[in-house]
Amino acid sequence: MKNLLPASERNIRFAAEVIRRGGLVAFPTETVYGLGADALNPKAVARVYEVKGRPRFDPLIVHISSADHLSLVVDDVPEDARRLIKEFWPGPLTLVLKKSDRVPPITTAGLPTVAVRMPDHPVALKLIEYSGRPIAAPSANPFGYVSPTSAEQVAETLGERVDVILDAGPTRIGVESTILAVSEGKVLLLRPGGLPVEEVERVLGKRVELPRDGRTVAPGMLKKHYSPRTPLFLIGDWNDYFRLRARYGRVLLLSPKPIWGVEGEVVHLSQRGDVREVAQNLFGILYRIDKLDYPAVAVLPVEEEGLGRAVMNRLRKASVR
Ligand code: TXA
Ligand code: MG
Repeated sequence: MKNLLPASERNIRFAAEVIRRGGLVAFPTETVYGLGADALNPKAVARVYEVKGRPRFDPLIVHISSADHLSLVVDDVPEDARRLIKEFWPGPLTLVLKKSDRVPPITTAGLPTVAVRMPDHPVALKLIEYSGRPIAAPSANPFGYVSPTSAEQVAETLGERVDVILDAGPTRIGVESTILAVSEGKVLLLRPGGLPVEEVERVLGKRVELPRDGRTVAPGMLKKHYSPRTPLFLIGDWNDYFRLRARYGRVLLLSPKPIWGVEGEVVHLSQRGDVREVAQNLFGILYRIDKLDYPAVAVLPVEEEGLGRAVMNRLRKASVR
């Protein structure tokens, strides 16, 4: 595929020029690959929605590389946000803040707020810096499908509809950023992600509000998402597993830690039982599973703390109910 380029200095500069001219560039971040366009160019942003097949009511995250960019997209940064920025940027934390007039409505799906983050990846930071523009980017997957953690996965699913795909190998964290809505005195978790909520609470010295179960707190936070084509079941115990086997015959089991003695095929999401490794491997394994023909996949849960919250959130949305 001729749009898949190694993320060399020269190719990053070329990709930055593509962004400046209103084109689309898929690029690596520390979380997942993003599908980027000039956040301030409504026509370029419209192409992002189109190529991804994303509904226009689902706003994009604006990626920045400097404090200057931040003051371009938001007018006012509340105290809590300031502290979080100081501690965690660049990093897997997205803040939803009141937007400035410079951000076109299409980028935020008409909302008065903008989601903004500074990614912790040299290629992403250079791309933004060289293009001189904040870059609006959702994850670089077709709408509803699994987020890509490698450039090949982007190439396989979005192909030639993207002008350039910058390849810098697999991503380090493997799940998307944590999203927090910050307004005067209040911090609300919109999506658990790469930055554990516990760390946010430690820095703020107060609790982050969690959305009540089942409530849609942000547009695009749909119940079903991140779904492989192979039916995936989040199982509670071995009885669930045996029931699935009785129903589907061949069932691939994904385990967050090494297990032995299971009759049937097993993939270990981590060799060490480390949730960071589970997060890193999860989406890549879901892409691979869709190329094998299992009638069903069963996944054992992880502890719901730290990164485990993000992993369980993605598994629930990916699973059949
Ligand atoms: O790690 C990440 O966050 C990756 C990389 C590429 O940076 N990006 C990502 O983008 O996951 P996306 O579009 O797949 O998810 C962004 C979510 C959307 O579901 C949307 O609902 C929410 O962010 N969002 C964006 N702007 C918002 C706003 N103004 N208010 C509330 N939610 C917003
Ligand atoms: Mg996404």
